[in-house]
Amino acid sequence: MSFYVTTPIYYVNDKPHIGTAYSTIVTDVLARYHRMRGEPTRMLTGVDEHGIKLERRAQTLGQTPQSYVDSMVPPFKDAWKQLDCAYDDFIRTTDPRHKERARELWRMCRDKGDIYEDEYQGLYCVGCEAYYTEKDLLEGKICPIHKTPVEILNERTYFFRLSAYGEKLLAFYEKNPRFVQPEGRFNEVKSFVREGLRDLSLSRGTFKWGIEVPDNPEHVIYVWFDALTNYISALGGPKIDGESDELFQQFWPQSRGDDHTAVHIVGKDILRFHAVYWPAFLMSAGLEPPSQVWAHGWLTVDGQKMSKSLGNFIAPAPLVEAVGSDVLRYYLLRDIAFGQDGDFSHENLFARYHGELGNGLGNLLNRILASIVRKTLEGRVPTIDRSELLAIDRGLLDKAMGNAAIAAKQFDDINPNRALDAIWDLVNAANKYVDSTEPWKLVKNGQTSRLAQVVYTALETLRYLGLMLWPVMPNKASELLQQLGFDALSPEEGVDLWPNEWGRLPGGIETRPGKPLFPRFEPDQQAALLEKLKPAVVAAPAPAPAPAPKAAPPRELAAKADTNIDAFG
Ligand code: ME8
Ligand code: MG
Repeated sequence: MSFYVTTPIYYVNDKPHIGTAYSTIVTDVLARYHRMRGEPTRMLTGVDEHGIKLERRAQTLGQTPQSYVDSMVPPFKDAWKQLDCAYDDFIRTTDPRHKERARELWRMCRDKGDIYEDEYQGLYCVGCEAYYTEKDLLEGKICPIHKTPVEILNERTYFFRLSAYGEKLLAFYEKNPRFVQPEGRFNEVKSFVREGLRDLSLSRGTFKWGIEVPDNPEHVIYVWFDALTNYISALGGPKIDGESDELFQQFWPQSRGDDHTAVHIVGKDILRFHAVYWPAFLMSAGLEPPSQVWAHGWLTVDGQKMSKSLGNFIAPAPLVEAVGSDVLRYYLLRDIAFGQDGDFSHENLFARYHGELGNGLGNLLNRILASIVRKTLEGRVPTIDRSELLAIDRGLLDKAMGNAAIAAKQFDDINPNRALDAIWDLVNAANKYVDSTEPWKLVKNGQTSRLAQVVYTALETLRYLGLMLWPVMPNKASELLQQLGFDALSPEEGVDLWPNEWGRLPGGIETRPGKPLFPRFEPDQQAALLEKLKPAVVAAPAPAPAPAPKAAPPRELAAKADTNIDAFG
């Protein structure tokens, strides 16, 4: 059994923002969850460094493409480190290990007879690195995403025989009904394929910044064929003579239904590349497609589309400095229904911070640990006789177990926000429990054995919460567990750390009540932070001269563009 999870490899045309951070954080949360279950787990991220867009960007800056892309790697690595995204490998498409394997995959498709040479003319958007058909463009041959004119490209290129894979893909989708999630997006993919696939232009002779086509140094490999290969090249696949492909054997599905799970987390904008082209390339090469492609929704900021190409992005760093990486991770996973579009709002972030985190979880820990255990129980977890617990205690502990099972199922099914629903349902139940058992009264009345039961039940529930929250908030969860007297969590292969049995909190251990987990911001402090954080949103550039569809909300535009990128994209 193994779990392999990947982020898209991001274009290095700009620095990470809250949208790319979202994909990476979700991927890290899933990897952490599987790691804490003791499964062999691998998380991959990286950057996409080839293509005409980047070649031109380097030119504009007066740099060589290589020195430009080199300079863009640290911002990504720094951001993921700041956000506690603990990837196992970082792939660059300029890595020799990647280039060799992209060329090898090309050879495998060529040897299968799926690559041929022909003439191609098309309307090309450099921003999208994609060809469009005229009907998909705005008036005046304007790209619907970038609002800039497309170019007419006429070139002799290699083609991939995608048209031969329509039926095979449909049969594959049929046999793998969860290949694409969410289901609605899978239906869009299927109808796209059912409409008929055209062969795919697979090389470019018009610029140099790419991987040379085997046997033809005049051409570079189309950037999407190059980029998609990262998911296997990072594992050492396809195998190259004299080099190991051990990781590929261990983590990539070798046959349908084996127990290697490989999941690509992507934004909905790039679903078609992952759900249509990528499995077709792999089938052609005689390799297995991934287990699943999960397309999440689009993040807007105050209702506005955010993208690197539009330049109106929010960088994660100032947010991390203001509230910490755990809180940002939590907010993004909690506030956005995974798979749907969502809006990033600074106000909501602070509202959830003070409400759910501060008053909900932080206060629960504080009112038991700092107020009662430290003051009246000499800082120790009380020892109790489990058989004497009352129905109300058992009710909470049963809920802890039940919700832990639900949260696990939701993480397994890649519904992280639903996992958080189950976890928060338990936080609320625990606070209600403390409200109704009133341990401070038990202290006052000297009811020590009842007090022990109540405190134990609350602390045991907090242990559940600390463990379950670790994938999302690794630092805060570890702090919580440490305050309870445990060591910080360190996952180990073969050891399942998910809470699945209550009563594992040992009586008598010494707790370590510490600082509040989520200290309050005073109103003026919060106002100052909001002031400082919000101007980070740069206004979108002035609209292109062409008439844009009036009053169409940005989200709709994004969705439209997303379904319209033509088969040559
Ligand atoms: O497409 N909301 O790279 P890219 C949510 N290099 N997610 C967002 C987002 C937003 N506003 N903006 C970006 C590429 N993303 C290719 C990928 S993979 C083989 C090659 C996330 O830098 C989302 O995951 O444009 C989206 O799919 C990805 O960043 C696109 O990143
Ligand atoms: Mg993009």
